[in-house]
This record gives sequence, structure tokens and C-alpha cells, in this order.
Amino acid sequence: MIAPPWRVAAGDAPFLVLEPKPATALLAGVDKPAVSVWGYDGKVPGPAIRVRRGDRVRVRLKNGLEQPTTIHWHGIRIDNAMDGVPGLTQDAVPPGGTFDYSFIAPDAGTYWYHSHAKTWEQVARGLYGLLIVEEDEAHLVDREIPFAADDWRLDKAGQIDEESFGAMFDWSHGGRMGNWLTVNGLTDPVIPVRAGERLRLRLLNSANARTMAFDFDRLAAQIIAIDGQPVPPSSLDSDGVTLAPAQRADVIIDINGKPGDTIPVWEVSTQHRLKSARFVISDQPPVREGPPGEPVILPPNPLRAELMPNDAQHIELVMEGGAMGGLREGSIDGKMMSIQELVEKKLVWAFNGKAGMQKKPLAAIPKGRTAVINMVNKTAFPHAMHLHGHHFRVIERDGKPVTGAPWRDTELVLRNEQVRIAFVADNPGKWLFHCHMLEHVAAGMITWMNVA
Ligand code: C2O
Ligand code: CU
Repeated sequence: MIAPPWRVAAGDAPFLVLEPKPATALLAGVDKPAVSVWGYDGKVPGPAIRVRRGDRVRVRLKNGLEQPTTIHWHGIRIDNAMDGVPGLTQDAVPPGGTFDYSFIAPDAGTYWYHSHAKTWEQVARGLYGLLIVEEDEAHLVDREIPFAADDWRLDKAGQIDEESFGAMFDWSHGGRMGNWLTVNGLTDPVIPVRAGERLRLRLLNSANARTMAFDFDRLAAQIIAIDGQPVPPSSLDSDGVTLAPAQRADVIIDINGKPGDTIPVWEVSTQHRLKSARFVISDQPPVREGPPGEPVILPPNPLRAELMPNDAQHIELVMEGGAMGGLREGSIDGKMMSIQELVEKKLVWAFNGKAGMQKKPLAAIPKGRTAVINMVNKTAFPHAMHLHGHHFRVIERDGKPVTGAPWRDTELVLRNEQVRIAFVADNPGKWLFHCHMLEHVAAGMITWMNVA
């Protein structure tokens, strides 16, 4: 069984109860000891939640952990009160407590949900799942397959390496890199397919810190959506589909081959490519003969307000700190601190010289105005920058204008790179803007904006 069960929480349906709790999972392989994890309803990934575009999602979080927690609905242009950020949009839910999330999912696409409390630990232990918002149109493919990739750090006993949680080396370098790759919580799972079948893979990178890239061997693959938003179909280049932490892609795969064929899906972000999963063609008759059909073009999501870059509010964001970053001091709510003082607070990264969450927002933006954020990465590491509650477009990279970039919610900014993004601040509330390398956000790479 490759696909976690779809679960619906829509219309007038009662609340879907999601209970994060300790459990065990055979994520290291069926022949290896079960791994102690934390999962929604005890599953890793948690149940995939599936609704139609425009539906109201109703989820009751029931905290079965011994720590406070929340759920964040990553990539949804959501009601601010439902965004799941402790200390900003809600109080963290104590052990045994509940919180009701109820919101409209305005855009079709592939999203995900995850804990937003002590995220670097709770997500690393397994607290995430897919949130799929269907298009109005009937299905354009034969079958959909979730493909949630994760990067675990296991110790010698094959358990989650707990000793290294909070390790300063990870926090000041590239984040918690793992040593074990899973897809849908399994090691190199078999995905049974039929010859001629057209699949829509919904890819997610839920790793704390590792950017991954997937290659479909000899199969024809086309990207049709990025971070949930439709893009004109494009074939994969030799680098495969690259996903920074928290990013998603929808990929159309046409299965060709004969019964019994095995076709690996490679993870190709390092020199040593890894098998992440494999398609195995069953001996059922082909779904169709001949070449695959026309490219799949997703219907656009509802019109959003046009970007007005000429009348935009400009926001500068200088990213500093980390190992080899030369950060000497930083401020917290106006108080200057030396790097030694900051390190004691485990803050080693800064935005505009400010380390960690501040009482004051990075910017106050009038509702409806276009905002342009100029990100300048002066650190020695890449950062996956995520904006809550909105979708943005890259409009400039390293001084060169970019046109036609997709709408997205998370963008990778490479070391020494400069990236300008633009969005229409049409969703009122307090919205985080942070690095999605979860050790970096915990160690200072976080700020927020107020849209009023
Ligand atoms: Cu997916 Cu603030 O996070
Ligand atoms: Cu980062």
C-alpha cells in the first residue's frame, strides 16, 4: 500500500479529528526495527486531507503529545486566525487540549500541513501530512499518487537521533541533514502501476533542511504545478525536479514498459544518487496503447489581484549570520547584543541585524497594496524563504529582471544570491516570513508582516 488513505473534511461534514501522538513506524524498512515517531493519528505522514476547491476544511486538533503544538496549513491563503502560529495567531495547544481549525481552501493544488510549535523537533519526528485541494474539473489523469519525501536522521540503533536535536553545529550550518530517505514514510517503496497509465504525482519535500531533487529515469515527466499553483507543462531537465524544504511540485508521469519492469525514481541532489521509490509495472493489460495523450494543463486558480510593482511598497531583507557569516552583533526588540550573548540564546542568524522574532513587524502593509521584498543573502548557506498567507512571484534575481515566474509560497535563495519577490498584500493579518530550514528559523531567521 503506497498511498495513505484520503480523508475528507468538507462541506457540512463534522470536524475531522487529527491527533498528533507518539507511535511507531516501519520507516527504516520492513525488516528493520520499528522507529519511534510522532505522527498525526500515529501515522507518518499523517492522513492526507482531500477537499474540493472552495470547500471549508474543518479539523479538530487534539493534542496527544507531551508538548504544546499547533497545525500550520502551508501554502493556503488562509484566514489569519487559522494560520497556526503560536504567539502570533493563536496560543499553542497544551497537551490534552484541542483547537478547531475551520477555513476555506480558495485555491486548488498540492499543499501540506505541519506542526508550527518547536517545528524543528516536531516535524523531524514526523508531524506533517499532505493537504490536497482538488480542481473543479474531473480528474485529468488515470490516478494520483502522493509522493511525500523526507530526510530522517537515524542513530546506530535505527531510531530517530534525539541526541542531536538542538545541536549548535546544525543550527549554525545547513540545518539538520538526515541519513535516511523515505517516501510516504517508507524506504524505497514499490508503487504498483500499469503500462500506459498516466499518473499525477504530488511531490512534497518535508525535510527539515535538505533540498532534494527527483529524476524519473526513462519515464517522460512534465511539471504542471509548483507549490500548488498551475504552470504551463514543462519537461524535466537533467537535474530532475528540485524541491527545497516545504516546496511541492505536481508531475505528470506516463508509464511505458512491459509487465514486470521496475523503474526507479532517483533522488539526485548529491553525487551519489539514491533510489527513493520504484514503479513496478503489473501484468494487467495496458491502460491504453500508443503514445500518451496531450499535456495536462491545469485550470487556473481564481483570479488574484494583479501585481502593481510600480506602486509597490519596497522592503529590504538582508540575511546574515550562521557559520562563516561574520555576524558580530544583533538586536532583539531594539536591544543590541554581542554574538556571544546571541549564541547563549541560540540565535545565530539575523534579518536586517535583528535576530529572531521581534515585537515589531518587518513591515506594515496596507491591505491590497503590492509589496516587493528584496532579499540579499549574505550568508554562506542557501535559505528556503516562506511567506505565510500569500503567494508571490520572483521578479528579479541577481539584478536581472525575471518574467513569468510561477506563483509560489517558498523560494530558495542561494548563498550570495539576491532575489526580489512581489506579492499583493490582500490577506489581512499577521503573517510570518521565515526560512523553512527549520534549524535556521529556530536560530533567528524569522520575521513577520502586518497587513491591515
Ligand atoms: Cu511550512 Cu511557517 O511554515
Ligand atoms: Cu535558512
